[in-house]
Amino acid sequence: MRKPVIAGNWKMYKTIDEAVRFVRELRPLVARAEHCEIIVAPPFTALRAAADAARGSNIAVAAQDAHWDTEGAHTGDISMRMLLDAGCTHVILGHSERRQDHWETDEDVNRKLKAALGAGLIPIVCVGETLVERESGRTEEVLERQFSRGFDALTPLEFSRIMMAYEPVWAIGTGRTATPEMAAASHAQLRSLVGDRCGDVTANQIRILYGGSVKPENIRGLVAKAGIDGALVGGASLKADWFAAIVNDSRG
Ligand code: PGA
Repeated sequence: MRKPVIAGNWKMYKTIDEAVRFVRELRPLVARAEHCEIIVAPPFTALRAAADAARGSNIAVAAQDAHWDTEGAHTGDISMRMLLDAGCTHVILGHSERRQDHWETDEDVNRKLKAALGAGLIPIVCVGETLVERESGRTEEVLERQFSRGFDALTPLEFSRIMMAYEPVWAIGTGRTATPEMAAASHAQLRSLVGDRCGDVTANQIRILYGGSVKPENIRGLVAKAGIDGALVGGASLKADWFAAIVNDSRG
C-alpha cells in the first residue's frame, strides 16, 4: 500500500512570522492524521523557521526549487545542501511556474533531480501539459517527453525514493480541476512509464500526486481513484484550516 502524501506549495507567499504561525496552527489540526504524509513548502526565507516550528510533529518541510551544484558562483541560487541545513527533507522540482518563468528544461530538472537524490533529499518532481497541448491531443506525448528527459538515467532504487506530481498547467491556480478520471488516466500513463523502465515493483511503489486547484471540496473524489496518491496543493494550502481539511479528507 502506498501512503498518500498531501503537500502544500506556498509559492511566493508568507513571511517568516506568517510561516511559523501557520505551522503552529496546523500542528494540532493534523496531529491525528496518520494515514498520510504531510509536507509544507515555504519560500526559502522561511524554511528554517518553519522546520523549527514543525520539529517533533508529523509535518515535513520542502523547498520549492534548488540548484544542481553543491556550491559555486550562482548569484541568487540555493543548493541542496543548504536546504538540508535549513531543515528540509523534500524539494519540489520542475514546477510549471519554474519551467515557464525561468525557462527550466527537462534537462535542468534531471540535473536537479540527481543532485537532490545525491544530497539525500526526497524530490517531488512535477510534470504536466499546457491547455494548448491538451486540446491538441498531445498530453501523452508531452508526459512521455518530460518523463524520458526529466527522469533520464535514474535507477530503480532512485525511482523508489522520489515522488511525482502530475500537474496539468491549465488547472493550476485557475479553479479548473482535472476530473478524477482525467487525472487517473495521466497517473496511469506515468506509472506505466515507470513500469516500462524499472518493472512493476517500482511502479507500484512510487507515489504520484495530483496538483491543480485541489480544494477541501474535491480532494475526496481525487484520492478515491486508484493511482492518485495524494495532492500537491497551491492556493488552498495557504490557510491552515483549509489545508488541514484536505489532509483529513484525503483518507480515500
Ligand atoms: P493550485 O496550485 O492548487 O493553486 O492550483 C497547485 C500547484 O501549483 O502546485
